[in-house]
Amino acid sequence: MTAEQPLYFRQHIFCCTNQRPPGHKRGCCAEKGAEDLRNYMKKRAKEMGIKDIRVNGAGCLDRCELGPCIVVYPEGVWYSPKNEADIDEILVKHVQQGGRVERLMLPPSE
Ligand code: FES
Repeated sequence: MTAEQPLYFRQHIFCCTNQRPPGHKRGCCAEKGAEDLRNYMKKRAKEMGIKDIRVNGAGCLDRCELGPCIVVYPEGVWYSPKNEADIDEILVKHVQQGGRVERLMLPPSE
């Protein structure tokens, strides 16, 4: 495969839905509503007619304390969406328009 070949999916969005037992010191994305947000993102992307990306559930992405965590590749941009409106904003501004939703981005250093 050469670099000139088109990508099968333009973007992959990985949504951590990892669940840990209650009281775990790192917490988990599942206890912050991650599964509902992942399901909503898949549904909304389809409703918006975005066909060239893939939204996947993922295991722990190792930034548990900052969750719920999602990461968009190939850009490698991390977000912590808290509700459906945040998901909508990521789909419109990042996925459709190629921008960033800075208020939801996780800093590289944390
Ligand atoms: S539990 Fe989601 S990043 Fe670890």
